[in-house]
Amino acid sequence: MSETFEKQKTIDLRNKHIGPSCKVFFSHDPIKIVRAKGQYMFDERGERYLDCINNVAHVGHSHPDVVKAGAKQMELLNTNSRFLHDNLVQYAERLQATLPEPLSVCYFVNSGSEANDLALRLAWQYTGHKGIITLDHAYHGHVSSLIDISPYKFHQMTDSKNQTVFVAPCPDIYRGKYREDHPDPATAYSDEVRDIIQDAHKKGHKIAAFIAESLQSCGGQIIPPRGYFQKVAQHVHQAGGIFIADEVQVGFGRTGSHFWAFQLQGEDFVPDIVTMGKPIGNGHPMSCVVTTRNIAEAFMSSGMEYFNTFGGNPVSCAIGLAVLNVIEKEDLQGNATRVGNYLMQLLNQQKAKHPLIGDIRGVGLFVGVDLVRDRAKRIAATAEAQEVIYKLKEQRILLSADGPDRNVLKFKPPLCFSEEDAKFAVEKIDKILTEIENAILLPTPSASYSSNGIQEKCYDEKVHKWNLNGTCSQEAVDSHDSGPSKKRQKVKEYIK
Ligand SMILES: Cc1ncc(COP(=O)(O)O)c(C=O)c1O
Repeated sequence: MSETFEKQKTIDLRNKHIGPSCKVFFSHDPIKIVRAKGQYMFDERGERYLDCINNVAHVGHSHPDVVKAGAKQMELLNTNSRFLHDNLVQYAERLQATLPEPLSVCYFVNSGSEANDLALRLAWQYTGHKGIITLDHAYHGHVSSLIDISPYKFHQMTDSKNQTVFVAPCPDIYRGKYREDHPDPATAYSDEVRDIIQDAHKKGHKIAAFIAESLQSCGGQIIPPRGYFQKVAQHVHQAGGIFIADEVQVGFGRTGSHFWAFQLQGEDFVPDIVTMGKPIGNGHPMSCVVTTRNIAEAFMSSGMEYFNTFGGNPVSCAIGLAVLNVIEKEDLQGNATRVGNYLMQLLNQQKAKHPLIGDIRGVGLFVGVDLVRDRAKRIAATAEAQEVIYKLKEQRILLSADGPDRNVLKFKPPLCFSEEDAKFAVEKIDKILTEIENAILLPTPSASYSSNGIQEKCYDEKVHKWNLNGTCSQEAVDSHDSGPSKKRQKVKEYIK
């Protein structure tokens, strides 16, 4: 059903005509999806996959209300925003009602990248400054201006980075510079931003904006300490800059308790610009920038018209309205809280059982599982995370691994994800982790040595840790060679 070509022909045509840097999931055995409903996707053979990663299909794949709203408006009219149309103003009014004052002026665009690029233009025009502070590991989009402020991408390039871009440490209290044992990580991380500003000033730069995702996604499901944004905003405002909150991945109720993820920081924090994308149209390409009247007026004062052929067209706005209606009607925020809490509870039970799980962090249906080879040293278990993803795919569950070391399992499913789905996914993860731990942490004695005789890993009795670098004591080597049941016991000790 819905297949024009056989799978192999689709692969061949894709290889021939689509840019090679456009990657597919599971490149050695890609999945061909032909239809989807709710939180499930179906391949060409009718096999069902549980979708734990699609934060675009926010209210569920192919939601009938959204489909109907788009089709109905398409039958009637689609045109650009130079004509008056009620959908545009009605949608802007509804969207604004979800945001705190003074965020009240919308620019409708077509992708998260367009939204962030426009946000930079607004910041440059409003402040008259050029410098942008971004967070380490951030990703804000694929256009040139955003690659420049996306260390997740530009760290992969050899060219030197844009001189007006400054990278602040990611406020990650698990792996970052200041961790959960720090008395005040929010202040410590925001002081880093203050120092960057002072440094930039000394070099003759002026700061236009600080940009951050309200919760960092590609960076590894990072939840900044509460109060961090307020303190950063204070430093940035003092320097004449503004605060841009990128909600492209995490907005529209994903966090459950709040409609916007920046609101987790507290009611005393309001960004100057919010950018939106992915979930806004449930798969329809639309996005938005919302800002204050003052910033919008300053942008106007340049004298240049802002025109966007597709942004804010009646079809997109009808779809956007339908998405907002479904979130409300189906209490998807409530579901995100309930199912998210249940998922966290199940995962925490797994943490008590699996040494590979170093950290579990999340809010609502935005959850990360940080896999480690060594809990004390927090060494990223990259290959193991990939193994989990591939094995889950075999079980018809779609999950991804991200973060700078690609070791963080990322849950960001459609908000209709259920408790049964969470239970099913976690049961499979449990099984896979057990298999991997048996294979890695409980190697056969010979597997502990490389072909040239160098000891690769063993359980070090003295420090109760698996040592992967071959520096174990003789007793450790002896205990390591003493058979699987004893080794299993060692793993139990390690878990404690
Ligand atoms: C946080 C964030 N901002 C912006 C973007 C860019 O959005 P788009 O791919 O719609 O241009 C992405 C895309 O992954 C993103 O994750």
